[in-house]
Amino acid sequence: MIPALSVRLSDVCSEAFSGGKAPRLIDVGSDHGHLACYALSSGLVETAVCTDIHEAPAKRTDTCLRQNGFSDRSSTYCTDGLDGVPLCEGDVVVMAGLGGNNMADIMERALSSTPASVLKTVTWCLQPQKSIERLREFFAKEGFDILEEKVSVEKGIWYPILRAVYTGVPYDLSLYGKYYGPVLIRKFEDRDPLIIEYFARLDNRYKLRARGDEEVSKLMSERSAST
Ligand SMILES: C[S@@+](CC[C@H](N)C(=O)[O-])C[C@H]1O[C@@H](n2cnc3c(N)ncnc32)[C@H](O)[C@@H]1O
Repeated sequence: MIPALSVRLSDVCSEAFSGGKAPRLIDVGSDHGHLACYALSSGLVETAVCTDIHEAPAKRTDTCLRQNGFSDRSSTYCTDGLDGVPLCEGDVVVMAGLGGNNMADIMERALSSTPASVLKTVTWCLQPQKSIERLREFFAKEGFDILEEKVSVEKGIWYPILRAVYTGVPYDLSLYGKYYGPVLIRKFEDRDPLIIEYFARLDNRYKLRARGDEEVSKLMSERSAST
């Protein structure tokens, strides 16, 4: 039976395929394999590649795909990130539930092993569990444009989701943009009620963190000066 997606994963999936169907999904950190099974069964992709750094989740993913009849349209690798999985034109890469540092390291390795012409056609849909600021910093430095940022709320937990594409053109990012997100800031300024509540939560989190983190302390001083 095709597994139902959680609210969070369903939001990740709609963002990943907001541009329409894709030839291939690469799900990095696939764990249970639900996303790939769902994307294949609903015709969002023709093929799927799943990777997980640990053997047990990689096996779980493989079992899920086989049991649902997708052996010939999918493959699963036990590997770190995208190591050993060359990117192809039009790929949609999803990384959900990994940390932002881990994601940036995975993308950095992919950058050095993939021609820019291919990279520019790849969609990255990311739901970092932590350290989203590190990911946005990496995007700005390496030239990944953030096309969309949204927040998924499931069982009282707030999950930011980003969609990005590679342009190769680096840009400046303010501290506010780094920690709150350039697209989310625009939504906040447009008085989006969900984002207003999300920013209030971020304010509380960063106020606490400012006590032991110089950069966040500077961010919060700038923020209180501007409001
Ligand atoms: C919290 S689970 C998230 C599973 C699924 N993506 C989701 O969002 O429901 C994170 C998974 O990523 C895997 N993982 C962590 N770091 C990884 C890496 N560098 N490369 C591949 N898989 C990784 C873990 O083994 C685990 O199965």
